[in-house]
Amino acid sequence: MNKRLFSENFYNRTSYLGALLAALMFILEIVLFAMDFFSGYSNGYLGLFTYMILPPILIIGLLLIPIGALQKHYQIKHGVLQNKKLPIFIIDLENQEHRNALGVFIVGTAIFLIMTAVGSYKAFNYTESVSFCGTTCHNVMKPEYTAYMGSAHARVKCVECHIGSGAGWYVHSKLSGARQVLKTILNNFSRPIPVPVRDLRPAKETCEECHWPGKSFSAIEQEHTYFPNDPGEAPRWKIRMLMHVSGGGNGSAGIHAHMFNNNTIYYVADDDQRQKISWVKSVNAAGVETIYTSKGSPYIKAAPSVDKIRKMDCIDCHSRPSHHFQAPVPLVDRAMAEGRINADIPLIKSKAVAALAKKYITEPEAVDAIRASLLKYYQEQQASYYAAHEKDVRAGIEAIIDIYQHNFFPEMGSRWDVYPDNIGHLISPGCFRCHDGEHRTPGGKDISRSCDRCHTIIEQGPPDKLQQNINGLPFEHPFVGNDSLEGTTCSDCHNGS
Ligand code: HEC
Ligand code: HEC
Ligand code: HEC
Ligand code: HEC
Ligand code: HEC
Ligand code: HEC
Repeated sequence: MNKRLFSENFYNRTSYLGALLAALMFILEIVLFAMDFFSGYSNGYLGLFTYMILPPILIIGLLLIPIGALQKHYQIKHGVLQNKKLPIFIIDLENQEHRNALGVFIVGTAIFLIMTAVGSYKAFNYTESVSFCGTTCHNVMKPEYTAYMGSAHARVKCVECHIGSGAGWYVHSKLSGARQVLKTILNNFSRPIPVPVRDLRPAKETCEECHWPGKSFSAIEQEHTYFPNDPGEAPRWKIRMLMHVSGGGNGSAGIHAHMFNNNTIYYVADDDQRQKISWVKSVNAAGVETIYTSKGSPYIKAAPSVDKIRKMDCIDCHSRPSHHFQAPVPLVDRAMAEGRINADIPLIKSKAVAALAKKYITEPEAVDAIRASLLKYYQEQQASYYAAHEKDVRAGIEAIIDIYQHNFFPEMGSRWDVYPDNIGHLISPGCFRCHDGEHRTPGGKDISRSCDRCHTIIEQGPPDKLQQNINGLPFEHPFVGNDSLEGTTCSDCHNGS
């Protein structure tokens, strides 16, 4: 009689199936693991299979083996199957069958434990990786991921800002992450994803892990080149300015220094996106409180309730540190200044801005529509210019399409006008949410709006007739003059398109 290796109980269909499944998954895991290990870079889908999808199948396979055995044991015990064997569990080391089963069990468990340890470590790393957050769900995170890859933070992992350190936040984020994965599978997530992100951690526990708020910056220089809508209309206009991040601007304490080293600022916003601010409190180092309210604020008489009050931190100014979807006008200005779009093409700025700002349903549709409509315009309306400069026009159109693909995401509805950037004041109210000169104390003191508080303009004008003054120049409104500025704020007229 040929003797079997294991107890009779293991010879059943369920256990065979389990063993087959486990063996297949095991081999597959080894291959994928090796690929992940040696490929040197992480691939979202490879990781998804190796560390999230296959391990549970492997475990199911392993579980099926004893389940099959138990089932058979039970059937034998209750006489469903006729078998002479004793229906009880005894481990008898004298018995060759038992020694084999025990040997397989011990070796199997050891391999399994090692794989679990390595696997959960890799799974942890994998779910913390940029490729997991940024590329697994593909369309959902595409806007944030694309903008992130072009930002100063492209080497900072998503989780460093979105989760930070500590077990509590880790669990918290994995739970809300699981909810988001479910929403993605059920396809019922919001498009665009709403901001502000409600459970974002205070900047003190994320940004300040890398950036020290007390760092003293010398003035940061910014240079802007603006183009008129039609090159025939006016020459281009340049502004060079010094941003007083850490003090220095005409007796001001500076943008960072004032807000952080000496002061704490609290505010109440009337809307979800925190764009309308009606109550502001600053507390200085000595603990003296100053309260400012906007015109018509509901909090002039009664103070707001505590749950409405937010403590200002980095994100209230740097709201798009890593996902900056820029507006058409500055994007096109920059491409023209860098020569990616030839600035001599007639009406190219207004045509490009209009094509970018238009709403489309999908990216391929947008790309085709932008190319077709601009080509049609130049071939038909600017026929003689087009005939002489076809190459320039076509290159310009491709540059506009490239701009579109990096800043506009119609499938998710992500674009500049749904995600206001709070760092400036031209396109969205930004600093002027408070610094509009209309937020006052009961005594009449306002939050400064004077143009030289935050920056000094040191150069402005057309490149061949630049005015220059290191002590600062009064702002001259490009192309249209200063008359239009009376009684308005910049974002009343400028919306980026
Ligand atoms: C430098 C820090 C930082 C990094 C790195 C970062 N984010 Fe963000 N993220 C933010 C901030 C700040 C917000 C906006 C918060 C707000 O306004 O409430 C945000 C918002 C988001 C939003 C909400 C929608 C939106 O566009 O505002 C998503 C989704 C997002 N991030 C995904 C990611 C992904 C995916 C990565 C990695 C590829 C990543 N983030 C990396 C800081 C960061
Ligand atoms: C893990 C470290 C890390 C974290 C967390 C982090 N940053 Fe940064 N940050 C960097 C690095 C690195 C740079 C790039 C420096 C360079 O390229 O010179 C940078 C650059 C910046 C810059 C200037 C560059 C630019 O043009 O945008 C700002 C502003 C900034 N970070 C703000 C923030 C804010 C706000 C947060 C929190 C939401 C944050 N950072 C979180 C590491 C970090
Ligand atoms: C009151 C608004 C405000 C707050 C709050 C604020 N910043 Fe800034 N920060 C600015 C402005 C304005 C600049 C100048 C650069 C610009 O305009 O983009 C700047 C510049 C910077 C830079 C240098 C950027 C460069 O181009 O090199 C870093 C880094 C930075 N901030 C980090 C932080 C961090 C971290 C916090 C929170 C601790 C913070 N900021 C809070 C307004 C603010
Ligand atoms: C939530 C309201 C609020 C926002 C938004 C805000 N600030 Fe302020 N800021 C204040 C208050 C309040 C003060 C005055 C503090 C005091 O009472 O002494 C101040 C003071 C300043 C000062 C010092 C002015 C001086 O004369 O000493 C600078 C510079 C400054 N802010 C820059 C900025 C910049 C740049 C932005 C936009 C990126 C900005 N602030 C956004 C509320 C705000
Ligand atoms: C509370 C601070 C603050 C005040 C007051 C202020 N600015 Fe600014 N301004 C900024 C910041 C911050 C930026 C830079 C935005 C960025 O980094 O993109 C900026 C940018 C600009 C730019 C360049 C815009 C662009 O993106 O092309 C111009 C022009 C300008 N300011 C003019 C003015 C004028 C005119 C006034 C007076 C009515 C004024 N600013 C008052 C903070 C201020
Ligand atoms: C009453 C409407 C109005 C207001 C208010 C206004 N602007 Fe303008 N601005 C215009 C118009 C119109 C143009 C010309 C657009 C063109 O020909 O390209 C312009 C052009 C500009 C340009 C150059 C064009 C470009 O490429 O962006 C800058 C910079 C600018 N304005 C800054 C400001 C600043 C800063 C403020 C606030 C202090 C402001 N504007 C307020 C209407 C306005």
